Amino acid sequence: MSIANESFRPKIVAFCCNWCSYAGADLAGSSRLSYPADVKIIRVPCSCRVNPMFILRAFERGADGVILCGCHPGDCHYTTGNYYTRRRMTLLFSMLDFLGVENGRTRVEWVSAAEGVKFSATMNEFVETIRALGPNVRLGDLRCRS
Ligand code: FES
Repeated sequence: MSIANESFRPKIVAFCCNWCSYAGADLAGSSRLSYPADVKIIRVPCSCRVNPMFILRAFERGADGVILCGCHPGDCHYTTGNYYTRRRMTLLFSMLDFLGVENGRTRVEWVSAAEGVKFSATMNEFVETIRALGPNVRLGDLRCRS
């Protein structure tokens, strides 16, 4: 990792489904497990509520990485929502890679309500990955840069 990257604080957007991942984040907090404050959580009813446009918009508005967390396959509160998510995001991430947004900047992770430790570890690891990649220069709207 370069010296420039050590001072770099990435902007991370984490979409978390209400029923599992958000509860997992809550558990991480109440268990006093830490993860970087650079992770901004957006609570959604289900991972499939995340329209691919939300992710493009996050990058446009200056996010350096976007992670989408949902219930484990088979555990979705709405039965099959996360199956749609998995298919949709596989396609979107491959298109983003084609556009020059590296694969490491996007991620889907299944985190249950009982996995506070996994939530914390995933966020720490994801932030480290983004820090190593450096600032995102693709898709950003220059008007949104501060
Ligand atoms: Fe969690 Fe659908 S409710 S992924």
